[in-house]
Amino acid sequence: MTAPEIDLRSDTVTRPTAAMRRAIAEAPVGDDVFGDDPTVRALEERVADLLGKEAALLVPSGTMANQIALRAQLRPGDEVLIGKDAHCWRFESGALAALAGAQSQTLPGDGRFEATAVRAAFKPDEPYIAPTTVVAVENTHNAAGGVLWDVVALAEVVAVTHELGMAAHLDGARLWNAAIASGRSEKELSAGFDTVCVCLSKGLGAPVGSLVASTREVIRRCHRFRKMYGGGMRQAGLLAAGGLHALEHHRARLADDHDNARYLAETLATAPGIRCDLARVHTNIVMLEFERADAGAVVAHATGRGVKLLGSGKRMRLVTHLDVDRAGCTRAAEVIAEAVAKA
Ligand SMILES: Cc1ncc(COP(=O)(O)O)c(C=O)c1O
Repeated sequence: MTAPEIDLRSDTVTRPTAAMRRAIAEAPVGDDVFGDDPTVRALEERVADLLGKEAALLVPSGTMANQIALRAQLRPGDEVLIGKDAHCWRFESGALAALAGAQSQTLPGDGRFEATAVRAAFKPDEPYIAPTTVVAVENTHNAAGGVLWDVVALAEVVAVTHELGMAAHLDGARLWNAAIASGRSEKELSAGFDTVCVCLSKGLGAPVGSLVASTREVIRRCHRFRKMYGGGMRQAGLLAAGGLHALEHHRARLADDHDNARYLAETLATAPGIRCDLARVHTNIVMLEFERADAGAVVAHATGRGVKLLGSGKRMRLVTHLDVDRAGCTRAAEVIAEAVAKA
């Protein structure tokens, strides 16, 4: 028998469990563009409630969730303040510029930033200036290594954002991980944000789906942009059922992914030629830096041994999830250390 594949490229690689597939097969559905799908309604209500917002809207992807949430709060020509390497700025194909017509100003820091930086960067509405109207936060921050925001710093950023008359957006693609790791509810971590996006297709292990949550009025605007961006779906209850199942059964177990990430980090931090900052391993993401080894060579070595990895230059990101257990992490750590030792 061949060993199962170990895939640490992302937490998006999970496949639906048998129980999730059953929930999907049995879901009552209707045409959601007509507002007829009871499973979509149930998911939207559940997520709005979990995030402490009036309403929520199901969309196909985290990218669409971020982009319609931002679009609904911007006029073309406005400016967005955003952390370094934020997903909705760096990894969404320029959508913020192309679809919302917004310009971005990135703030200093590792993706997290302080209220003083927001105040310093803010530009008022003058005829010759792009007014700053939205501040976007990402928690956990993917590119920074799945790190959590400090809750006091987060509250200060939201307070200054509102004081200056701007809207606060939260990219919470992995807010579920942030809640488990910080011991604070998703509702607490979303408090004060005007729009919050969450993903079902990352650590939660559903195949497709993200949601935007906000006030009824902002969600009404998001609904229009969802249609405009091509995200109106018909019997989407099939997707919503996977999401409802994931929320019920896969939220608490994210703690296992965090334990596995810490285990991987601690194991690899002691391997020759690998640097890993353990203080930055907060959730399910581990960042490695190689002294000499090239990430491409490590990826190639591992692929031949049934371990899928992602990295470039001297850096590699490992992400733990539902489909990788402790034995898989042990095997992956051995293979990575072996490849680095060969370099
Ligand atoms: C922080 C963050 N936001 C948004 C997204 C976009 O999600 P999707 O791939 O569903 O468009 C991702 C994807 O990895 C992400 O990591």
